[in-house]
Amino acid sequence: MSILVTGGAGFIGSNFVLDWLAISNEAVINIDKLTYAGNLENLASLAGNEQHLFVRGDIGDAALITRLLAQHKPRAVVNFAAESHVDRSIHGPEDFIQTNIVGTFHLLEAARAYWNALEGEEKDNFRFLHVSTDEVYGSLSKTDPAFSETNRYEPNSPYSASKAASDHLVRAYHHTYGLPVVTTNCSNNYGPYHFPEKLIPLCILNALAGKPLPIYGDGQQVRDWLYVKDHCSAIRRVLEAGQLGEVYNVGGWNEKANLDVVRELCAILDELQPRADGQPYHTQITYVKDRAGHDRRYAIDATKLEKELGWKPSETFETGIRKTVQWYLDNQPWVTNVSSGAYQDWVNKQYTT
Ligand code: NAD
Ligand code: DAU
Repeated sequence: MSILVTGGAGFIGSNFVLDWLAISNEAVINIDKLTYAGNLENLASLAGNEQHLFVRGDIGDAALITRLLAQHKPRAVVNFAAESHVDRSIHGPEDFIQTNIVGTFHLLEAARAYWNALEGEEKDNFRFLHVSTDEVYGSLSKTDPAFSETNRYEPNSPYSASKAASDHLVRAYHHTYGLPVVTTNCSNNYGPYHFPEKLIPLCILNALAGKPLPIYGDGQQVRDWLYVKDHCSAIRRVLEAGQLGEVYNVGGWNEKANLDVVRELCAILDELQPRADGQPYHTQITYVKDRAGHDRRYAIDATKLEKELGWKPSETFETGIRKTVQWYLDNQPWVTNVSSGAYQDWVNKQYTT
């Protein structure tokens, strides 16, 4: 038995593959295009593991996906592959349209043909799990209730619009063709192997390098934070017991303003690795130009997943952020490699006014 994972060299996908192979002996076929965000070093501990087959490729390459499905006969496809950074989608949306919409379409087509040809139990048990985001629901005011699965889709960035489109395609393939799909919409993840273009790893690494900690606008935008390994456990649970055609919101019950998140990680760094000059890290906080169309607040109501499937996050923000800061301190070679070359070009483009 095996599963096919897409985007398994990225932040969440690599955590998912590592956790999966740590607790299951079911093989993983991992297809990833290795864009700037895909990093095989995340999977270095799997070297020599025969249960892990890495294939460099594009989810939009229907011939490749068709061949991999026929060859390995996975019982499920778990689709993480995406362009995932909102700021990049504002600078250049095209890759987001290509991968998140067109790529998902080709993946769905290949999965549909494969599933159609299955028979009996293999056909009944097949699943297509689509990993999506809370950003498809748009932005909340301070007093709005958290997003539930029945909220209207109101995506505001090219990234969230492309993810919304992919969610609609996945839904349509269930309604029209009966493809056995489940979709998860998760809040902001953080944890090991997070690429340092996103708020938390960027601020940890900038703090340690003595650089400014860039806060967009007034820093009062609110996100719900979930430790990545809790997201992975939710996906495993939905894969195991999710109802066909259903959507499950995944969240950590950890709403925080950006400024508070950065202040909290600064305080942990003050304790674990104090600055040489004795000054607190929060003095590096700098307010910069706001993100265009910046969503003010996201919050997830994960009651359905908890009540129907019995899932709960195991980390609070306080425990998860401490583990995360410690992970970055303990993994300097990973940090050094990821902070070079193309990533630096991006940082320069994003942070020069
Ligand atoms: P990421 O950017 O770290 O990783 C994406 C991975 O997909 C990379 O390894 C990249 O090389 C690969 N990829 C990109 N285009 C591809 C293509 N055409 N074919 C094959 N592989 C391709 O992203 P992430 O943060 O790990 O997010 C994974 C998924 O989870 C995405 O679908 C994202 O929308 C969703 N999500 C992310 C978060 C979050 O907080 N990071 C929250 C909710 C949902
Ligand atoms: O909500 C789920 C989403 O979370 C995922 O779908 C996305 O793939 C993921 O990137 C993330 O999106 P955000 O835009 O919320 O994450 P990011 O880390 O880019 O930003 C978090 C908040 O911090 C957001 O309000 C913007 C702000 N920010 C971000 C950066 C990079 C800053 O203030 N300064 C920064 O330098």
